[in-house]
Amino acid sequence: MVELEDLPNVGEKTAEKLRDAGFADMMRLATATAKELSVKAEIGEGVAEKVIEAARKAEEIDFETAFDVMERRRDVGRITTGSSGFDELIGGGIETQSITEVYGEFGSGKSQISHELAVTVQLPVEQGGLDSECVFIDTENTFRPERVEQIATGFGLDLDETLSRIHIARAFNSSHQILMAEKVNELIQKGSNIRLLIIDSLTAHFRAEYVGRESLASRQQKLNQHLHTIQNIANTYNVAVFVTNQVQARPDAFFGSPTKAVGGHVLAHAATYRIWLKKGLAGKRIARLVDSPHLPEGEAVYKIENKGIVD
Ligand code: GTP
Ligand code: MG
Repeated sequence: MVELEDLPNVGEKTAEKLRDAGFADMMRLATATAKELSVKAEIGEGVAEKVIEAARKAEEIDFETAFDVMERRRDVGRITTGSSGFDELIGGGIETQSITEVYGEFGSGKSQISHELAVTVQLPVEQGGLDSECVFIDTENTFRPERVEQIATGFGLDLDETLSRIHIARAFNSSHQILMAEKVNELIQKGSNIRLLIIDSLTAHFRAEYVGRESLASRQQKLNQHLHTIQNIANTYNVAVFVTNQVQARPDAFFGSPTKAVGGHVLAHAATYRIWLKKGLAGKRIARLVDSPHLPEGEAVYKIENKGIVD
């Protein structure tokens, strides 16, 4: 293990600044940008560049072979949605090292699936979980512990223990949301066994705060920075990131879907899996996989019951 103090250009003082800013491990440093590091750790950009360079050397970051990538993919963990049809659609559950985005109109089940995953990630691996804890960033004040209890009861889990393994952050605005996501690094570095990060909703604050065409560029820039942070967490700590997103009406659409996801290209490119949730007849709900690097498009039908998501 290489310590911060082992890096050239890093004395005790700089090491302390880096730790305080949440850059305690090599991988986190190696994947930072000089600008980000200099702002957050309050060090010169020149020093930041050198430190990052050294961390990359220490982590031996260079070209890797497809075999290396395959090896890393072997560590990918999957978390069940509660519905086997839904799981199958996305290749066996929500993946670690990836960002999974669900979008859909109000009441389509985005928050319900978020609650479900907060419970199922705690299950043992044989039951579709990762025997781990999670972070739930709640931006719309819709997290309900009562709902967690109902779902946990369905799985026969201890209620108090289940609740205490979900770390909640209420985010009041987009800056707060960005900050809380960065804090996940600290939580993991302090030893919490976090394998799932939920952000419900990823885009609501951004959408409300940046209105009008003239603010679009700054909104997308902020959102991009936020996505960079969460992708980094996913890669560095083998965490699954699950985000929800709203849709906006597309009045000009005669064919195809009359709604589209908020967030534009920035989000479309960042999310590894994109799933569109629709309300069907008689309480049925439809999940449509619209984008994935290696799975075919398709649909799954599921239902929301008191005990959670079911086939
Ligand atoms: P917005 O956040 O408003 O965009 O919607 P959303 O997609 O997050 O919707 P959400 O996940 O909150 O889904 C709400 C729906 O889930 C409700 O309309 C109910 O149909 C269903 N639901 C919520 N709680 C329960 C429950 O305890 N039992 C059952 N059977 N259904 C529930
Ligand atoms: Mg919701």
